[in-house]
Amino acid sequence: MKKVLTLVTVLLLVFTMSACKSDDDGVITIGANIYTFNDNFMNGVVRPELERYAEELGVELDVVDSEGSQATLNNQVDTFISKGVDVLAINLVDPAAAGTIIEKAKDADIPLILFNKEATVAGVMDTYDKVWYVGTDSAEAGIIQGQMMLNDWQANAAWDLNEDGVLQYVLLKGEPGHPDAEARTLESIKAFTDAGIAVEELAIQPSTTWSTTEAGDTMAAWLSTGWADTIELVVCNNDGMAFGAIQAMDNASVDIPVYGVDALEEALAKIGTGDMNGTVLNDGVNQARATIDLAINAANGVDILDGTTWVIDAPTGTKAVRVSYVAVTADNYSDFQ
Ligand code: GAL
Ligand code: CA
Repeated sequence: MKKVLTLVTVLLLVFTMSACKSDDDGVITIGANIYTFNDNFMNGVVRPELERYAEELGVELDVVDSEGSQATLNNQVDTFISKGVDVLAINLVDPAAAGTIIEKAKDADIPLILFNKEATVAGVMDTYDKVWYVGTDSAEAGIIQGQMMLNDWQANAAWDLNEDGVLQYVLLKGEPGHPDAEARTLESIKAFTDAGIAVEELAIQPSTTWSTTEAGDTMAAWLSTGWADTIELVVCNNDGMAFGAIQAMDNASVDIPVYGVDALEEALAKIGTGDMNGTVLNDGVNQARATIDLAINAANGVDILDGTTWVIDAPTGTKAVRVSYVAVTADNYSDFQ
């Protein structure tokens, strides 16, 4: 009898432990961050949905601001681990620093979901069986933006201000080394060159935090160098930087075609008023939901896609869920408002 009782006790203990994870109250705890709360898209779209969706699903989510510092993020991850979170959902500050975070998670045997900034070190995702990525196919946004700009260029002969058949453009780039910034920069212009249209890059300027203010200052400087009648197109890696460019153009009373990425509310409004020509929907809501869904499954130790409709992007084997981008122009912007 005593043996049976002991067995029952052990079974009960095992059962209780697995249902409760590390928390006493049985609620899954996710330790998360945003690389900086000073980012329109991450803080304005992704973070609110992470919080709303976590609440809807009854999991505890702690989201901290890494303030653009990878060192800060490393410390925050240490703190999450010592607090005993069940799973980490991490927005890298430096995409090349993925290995450090993966190693910390692996040492603590805590599953890890990286989101929005994809690791740039080859093979690093294979160093831990409990790490996954949620984001997009970085090139897709650039391809869509490029196609949109090319269509408009071909439909508006007057956009070629100096009538030389060459596109003179400026480009406001996001964070150097960020897969989204690099791929968007490359692909958006490639749409023109692939179509046989010669291009001339007057200037390109990156912004580590994809900043509206920095982009505004840059654009103002470009306009004051005498390019107000020379720039034929303003290509922006995101909407936030497009807003800065538009402000600078307003201040200088010029109106040059301008395109962004993200489809922030404000961008949709600007497309409606004709202040902006197009953007690309970066579906932060679904990226946030996929991040939480995967985090919960990882914490529960079940199949990472269990009970969801997400797909892992096999055959590349990068252990990533990638949410699609959508073109947004004057024709369809109101569908997204
Ligand atoms: C991109 C987004 C940018 C910025 C960046 C941060 O996907 O388009 O606006 O938020 O992520 O990593
Ligand atoms: Ca021209």
